[in-house]
Amino acid sequence: MEQTPEMDDAVWLVRQRERLARIELAPTVQTVGRVERFADGIAYVSGLPDAMLDEVLRFQSGAVGFAHTLDEKTISVVLLDEDGAIDAGSLVTRTGKTLQVPVGPQLLGRIVDALGRPLDRAEAIGPVEISPIERPAPAIVDRDLVAEPLETGVLVVDALFAIGRGQRELIIGDRATGKTSLAVDTIINQKTSDVVCVYVAVGQRATAVERVIEAVREHGAPERCVFVVASAASAPGMQWIAPFAGMTIAEYFRDRGQHALIVIDDLTKHAATHRELALLTREPPGREAYPGDIFHVHARLLERAAKLSPKLGSGSLTALPIAETDASNLSGYIPTNLISIADGQIVLDAGLFAANQRPAVDVGLSVSRVGGKAQPRALHEVSGRLRLEYAQFLELEMFTRFGGLTDARVKARIARGERIRALITQPRFQGLRTMDQVVLLAALIHGAFDEVSAEVAQRVREQLRAWLTAQVALLPDGAALSMESADAALLARLADSVTELVKRVASVDTTDTVVGSRTFEQIAPSTDLPPSVARK
Ligand SMILES: Nc1ncnc2c1ncn2[C@@H]1O[C@H](COP(=O)(O)OP(=O)(O)OP(=O)(O)O)[C@@H](O)[C@H]1O
Ligand SMILES: [Mg+2]
Repeated sequence: MEQTPEMDDAVWLVRQRERLARIELAPTVQTVGRVERFADGIAYVSGLPDAMLDEVLRFQSGAVGFAHTLDEKTISVVLLDEDGAIDAGSLVTRTGKTLQVPVGPQLLGRIVDALGRPLDRAEAIGPVEISPIERPAPAIVDRDLVAEPLETGVLVVDALFAIGRGQRELIIGDRATGKTSLAVDTIINQKTSDVVCVYVAVGQRATAVERVIEAVREHGAPERCVFVVASAASAPGMQWIAPFAGMTIAEYFRDRGQHALIVIDDLTKHAATHRELALLTREPPGREAYPGDIFHVHARLLERAAKLSPKLGSGSLTALPIAETDASNLSGYIPTNLISIADGQIVLDAGLFAANQRPAVDVGLSVSRVGGKAQPRALHEVSGRLRLEYAQFLELEMFTRFGGLTDARVKARIARGERIRALITQPRFQGLRTMDQVVLLAALIHGAFDEVSAEVAQRVREQLRAWLTAQVALLPDGAALSMESADAALLARLADSVTELVKRVASVDTTDTVVGSRTFEQIAPSTDLPPSVARK
């Protein structure tokens, strides 16, 4: 049958009637607020008495913000877009939703802003789940003991301040002391593990963030990382929500029985943003002009890092928040807050950094309160006395600075301490596997490095990975060598093989002088003060 225009119209009419019948004509109520004042990225809105804390509100111009404080007559709304054209009098509507971010494996390998919008490529991230940025921390009954190690690949951390999965370890130090580098090295070391990494940049320079991403792309496994970026140029609101958004993104993996690591770089800048917002919204300022709730903000954030019980899938979320100190002042308000919230801190010292001991970990002030139990058994055994020996060396070194003491035992201790210092001075991107660390420390204890210079010790450490891989390949059951159950005889054999490597490296290096034949005055630094002394 031929189709006529009249029939087309008839069909159209029927369709439209059906559509009309489906429309519900019941009245709906929408409260509309009005901007009273707008300044410094904060809008004061009246007429929305039912708005919730952290609720997303939409402005007439399309810009969004979230309710930051709820007063009797007005609420203050922190804008999340930098260039929202907002004037007094413009209308504001509620969305009924609190702040949310997309979560899921689709985010892996992506760079997103604090609302989960892509910053790297135009293509959208999807399809994804949506999850609120503020989620309750797991209850005590839902948690398990921290018992598995999170390997950083950095010898001084893994041996002396081991970090467990589910732990919160603060990285704290002055400006430019290698805080970010330490965290990024840890992310890079997860290349060979099953840990998903989330790096949150808060208030960092864009170039610094770029360097981090480049480093991970070049050396790590970027396809298992999410970068949440709220740089210094982002709106304060974005910087404020970024750590929470990052936590939610990381929690997705924790709640599915996987392991995740979150680095928050850094919480000092986050605290400053919080203070800025609080002062603008006229919250009463407290110590150092921070509002009274700053402790609670960071505590509830970091509380979300956890090791979950087997009933909930045994997933874990480890947090490495970073904090900056001013002139090594650990007793500042924000540093003390964060130190008391976290399960330990790795203190980076500007003096050590300047003396080229990098990572500049201050062995005396750093601590890890739960990680020791998570340390692989073999590593625990060889690193047990290391800290004590090193601490004694630092003391002795100070006393014998001007020569004089010629006691053989003192000399031996100092020589050993210098080897320890050489080994824990580790360049970036040279992570050590647990096996390398165990064998290296076992060889150190057996005195493999006592006869050679510190430089040789460092070169041995550089070549150790390849050497041990070859050695293990020679073993009959090499592939299954585990650091939890490795037997002492086997480790001793590997440690012995290091003596051979030391000989080879030392023989290549003809300029190397043998420490054993030097006089004590030559060993003890005289004009050139050791870093631990120089900073006193
Ligand atoms: N183990 C290391 N060996 C050699 N150089 C290092 C090491 N760790 C860090 N550095 C160098 O020190 C410099 C400062 O490092 P980084 O940016 O990580 O410090 P930061 O404390 O995060 O600085 P900021 O306070 O600016 O955030 C970088 O140039 C980095 O390459
Ligand atoms: Mg940094």
